[in-house]
Amino acid sequence: MCGIIGYVGGREAYPILVKGLHRLEYRGYDSAGVALCNSIGELNIYKAKGRVSDLEDFCKSKDTVGTMGIAHTRWATHGEPSNVNAHPHYSESENLALIHNGIIENYAVLKEQLLQKGYHFQSSTDTEVLVQLIEYVKELNHVDLCTAIQLALGQVVGAYAIAVIEKGNPDMMIAARKSSPLVLGIGRDEFFIASDASPIIEYTNRVIFLEDEEIAIVRRHEQPKIVTIGNVEKTREIIQLEMSLGQLEKGGYPHFMLKEIFEQPRTLRDCMRGRVNVECNNVVLSGIIDNKERFVNAKRIIILACGTSWHAGLIGEYLFEEFCRIPVEVEYSSEFRYRNPLIYPDDVVIAVSQSGETADTLAAIELAKESGAFVYGICNVVGASIPRNTHSGSYTHVGPEIGVASTKAFTAQLLVLSMMALCIAREKKTLDEKRFLKLLIELDAIPAKIESILGNNDLIQNLSNTFTYAHNFIYLGRGYNYPVALEGALKLKEISYIHAEGYPAAEMKHGPIALIDSEMPVVAIATDNGMYEKVISNIQEIKARNGRVIAVVSENDTVVKGIADYVIEVPVTEDCFDPLLTTIPLQLLSYHIAVNKRRDVDMPRNLAKSVTVE
Ligand code: M6R
Repeated sequence: MCGIIGYVGGREAYPILVKGLHRLEYRGYDSAGVALCNSIGELNIYKAKGRVSDLEDFCKSKDTVGTMGIAHTRWATHGEPSNVNAHPHYSESENLALIHNGIIENYAVLKEQLLQKGYHFQSSTDTEVLVQLIEYVKELNHVDLCTAIQLALGQVVGAYAIAVIEKGNPDMMIAARKSSPLVLGIGRDEFFIASDASPIIEYTNRVIFLEDEEIAIVRRHEQPKIVTIGNVEKTREIIQLEMSLGQLEKGGYPHFMLKEIFEQPRTLRDCMRGRVNVECNNVVLSGIIDNKERFVNAKRIIILACGTSWHAGLIGEYLFEEFCRIPVEVEYSSEFRYRNPLIYPDDVVIAVSQSGETADTLAAIELAKESGAFVYGICNVVGASIPRNTHSGSYTHVGPEIGVASTKAFTAQLLVLSMMALCIAREKKTLDEKRFLKLLIELDAIPAKIESILGNNDLIQNLSNTFTYAHNFIYLGRGYNYPVALEGALKLKEISYIHAEGYPAAEMKHGPIALIDSEMPVVAIATDNGMYEKVISNIQEIKARNGRVIAVVSENDTVVKGIADYVIEVPVTEDCFDPLLTTIPLQLLSYHIAVNKRRDVDMPRNLAKSVTVE
């Protein structure tokens, strides 16, 4: 939700800021803007509705000189996408410019108070209220900008990552955060602030992740100073990031999503490296081993997540119950946090998140911690809020996922959950050794099997031409493949805007079967596993009502091939690892349909990559 970037240093800020906005555009892309401060302290703001490229077009004829600036790419919360609602926002006197990612929940009350004091508002945003409040507090109390920001943030309820610059002060930028991410990049006599490290990494890999309620005062030629809203000075460790620039580029693919789908054999190998050792018949996840008592003695596991990560959590439930014999509940973080749930100190809570910044999951984690539960994070983004706010955890190690629709992060979440289940089962002795080794060998073989599925890309692309103009889709699966059906439907909805629903195949006859006719494509996952015969019956029911069936089948299949209208083959594997394979053709099908429909695959409408507001 919104990307922010700021720069102070010796170079021209504008090209750095615009390049940074392009890297952050996956976070929000309905409007963009930049504020620049030149060497004599003049402040200019330029904004444009649309993409960052629209802002660039707009700025072509403008004065973009200045070695300090801030910039923003927006995902609208308060007020429609428009030039006036785009950030940065000026204060009343136009002395301050501010960018913001988050939501000021009490903005209406604050706005009313400021209106009564004679302040005027141009936009419908909550953000403009904050910049006006800072200016009001500054003038009222005759304090410097940092103190004014501290006082103003003390009155704010909500989430924010902000950056502020001031007319007449070309050497200082101030940034602050609470519940929205903010990274400070430390270069050679130049400094960056951004929502994540992607726009910074080209210039420096030395970063500081700011904590909640911290403020960074970034002055030219000085080391940044970090204080809290309550004015306590803090020392933060500088972290060396390992991210590379190549990971942030498309590498010859037309879209990040396709690149990320094709990266999966490698990302899964990376995720297993140093953890799965077939020769030694072992799986080692240090987060589990270091806390094995908590897992072995857990009376219950609660998995918390949103969206695609929640689908991974559902598969986690099957894995933990089958291998570890621990009861599992999987909850949407957004529901869990508000329903007064029962949480016990001997519960293990697993929070699953690609970004590690999802606001609802972060709030649910806090609730679980308050009740004394042990909280384990599964996250992709190194240094994000979830790994910093959980007791322990595992990274998925797939590198930056830039396409808004999650693909490689999902399969890596499944892999981490599989490794966790195996690791805990070994400690609990709930799996016999022969089966353990068989599973391990199979897990190790998954990346090669995905490579063979990716070899079917042309076939799936051809198939997609037949279904580009369908208005609805149904996805069916059973057992481990039921959550895959949900994920397949979500992927199609997100990037093609075709309505799609996923169901457990047997649920069809309890209602949804009424939707079936010759116009309705049904994607049925019918691999050769424990549910095979049952799914065949479900497919027969669809065919009897003239539904058009696209079946994902095992390579050795003979029966479904004779019933379904179209088939996509995947290699045979253990039931529990089927989702790692069956997900891949569904990703490709969604991708090709969306491309046929000329959708913006990497930045689908209305969405943003990390949902940092509730
Ligand atoms: O970063 P997270 O995994 O916590 O994000 C959760 C969801 O917002 C995310 O999975 C979303 O559903 C994706 N757009 C799915 O492709």
